[in-house]
Amino acid sequence: MSKLWGGRFDQPTDPRMDQFNKSIDFDARLWEVDILASQAYARAICDAGVLSEAERDQIVSGLEKVFEEWDEGRFVIRTEDEDIHTAVERRLTELIGPVAGKLHTGRSRNDQVATDLRLYLCHALDVLEAQLNELQLTIIQTAEQSIDVIMPGYTHLQPAQPVRFSHWLMSFFWMLQRDWGRLEDMRRRIEVMPLGSGALAGTPLSIDRQALAQRLGFSRVSENSMDAVSDRDFVAEFLFWATMLSVHLSRLGEDLILFSNPAIGFVRLSDAYTTGSSLMPQKKNPDAFELVRGKTGRIIGKLTGLLATLKGIPSTYNKDLQEDKEPLFDAIDTLQLALPVVTGALATMALRPSKMQAALDDAMLATDLADWLVARGTPFRQSHHIVGQVVHEAERRGIPLRALTLEDLQRIHPGFTADALSVWDFERSVEQRQAPGGTARDAVLAQIAQARAIMGVLE
Ligand code: ARG
Repeated sequence: MSKLWGGRFDQPTDPRMDQFNKSIDFDARLWEVDILASQAYARAICDAGVLSEAERDQIVSGLEKVFEEWDEGRFVIRTEDEDIHTAVERRLTELIGPVAGKLHTGRSRNDQVATDLRLYLCHALDVLEAQLNELQLTIIQTAEQSIDVIMPGYTHLQPAQPVRFSHWLMSFFWMLQRDWGRLEDMRRRIEVMPLGSGALAGTPLSIDRQALAQRLGFSRVSENSMDAVSDRDFVAEFLFWATMLSVHLSRLGEDLILFSNPAIGFVRLSDAYTTGSSLMPQKKNPDAFELVRGKTGRIIGKLTGLLATLKGIPSTYNKDLQEDKEPLFDAIDTLQLALPVVTGALATMALRPSKMQAALDDAMLATDLADWLVARGTPFRQSHHIVGQVVHEAERRGIPLRALTLEDLQRIHPGFTADALSVWDFERSVEQRQAPGGTARDAVLAQIAQARAIMGVLE
């Protein structure tokens, strides 16, 4: 069969060129949005007087048959099908004859593919948003259930200060909440319809683009045809969004890989989200989180790859833009797999509060001792130095800080009184941090309540 664009060509395309040129192997998944957009377009050009109502109905119902073939897995892709757009039109022609040739009036694959891709991404975002919500809810629930659990907080991966386990976990809620905000914001820029831009210069038909946009669920129409056919900012933006979200998931995963290591043992991951070793019978590996961490590298690569593709292309459509799909689809697929796995792994892991307790070291209360002095008028810099000497003394004698007597403390600084010994209490320490955003029970409960309110879930 001759090519859609074959009129001016004498010679057939080299098969290797065909192979190189075609995108059907990866854009076939656009079949649904492609057909929906074409049906809406047929109605629009009928309203513009290009199709009779009978022709419109023929085209719309012919497309319905093509839709069913895809839907039921009966559509046969032919070797000459270059991309999803030509495949659908080829099949429509077989089904309804030459009238199919009127569908593409005033349209180019340039505005068609840009429209399809935006529609496809909108649907993908709905799924991702629901999956993200599930993860956020799981975080909230786990945080609520573990409000009493205290564990070491780290900076530089060194024991720093005690924190509530919920506080650590909720820190990821807020990262994901920013991802959610970015998603909502980005959606406004994706919901812009390029259809009606033609190849680059707009359409000569008096199409009601607003009505067409509305029919397809777009909120606006593009303002400039040259921009519309080549704007892939939304793909880059989505890939950045995907990258940022992945980075957050990767960091959560990294913490949990550490926490589930038997040497630390703060959590035990369920069998459902871990795997064994073919050689070492005892192994239980945190593959779910390792894969999330590993795949994040791939998603970062997709973003930088697309930006490199976009950076040098001249105005309007260039075939380079066909390279937008594989990174986009890969990032969507990866995240749609990863999000439920992370949610499941979190929901099914067991906490081991006694292990967390055992990892709490008095040294993590050194700051509280300094704060005790500050509350009694010692400038912080000086208290820091005094407590440094206290830590040094305990270290020199190889004893925990709380084993130092009041006399030991007073030898270092005469201002210490018996009340200073009350700082050797992890619960007291987290409760000291009452200000919003801190580790005190009420502060953590307040952020959980805030998170619930954001998610629209009643307590
Ligand atoms: N398969 C092409 C793509 O994905 C469709 C647009 C083709 N446009 C063209 N002028 N050759 O970008």
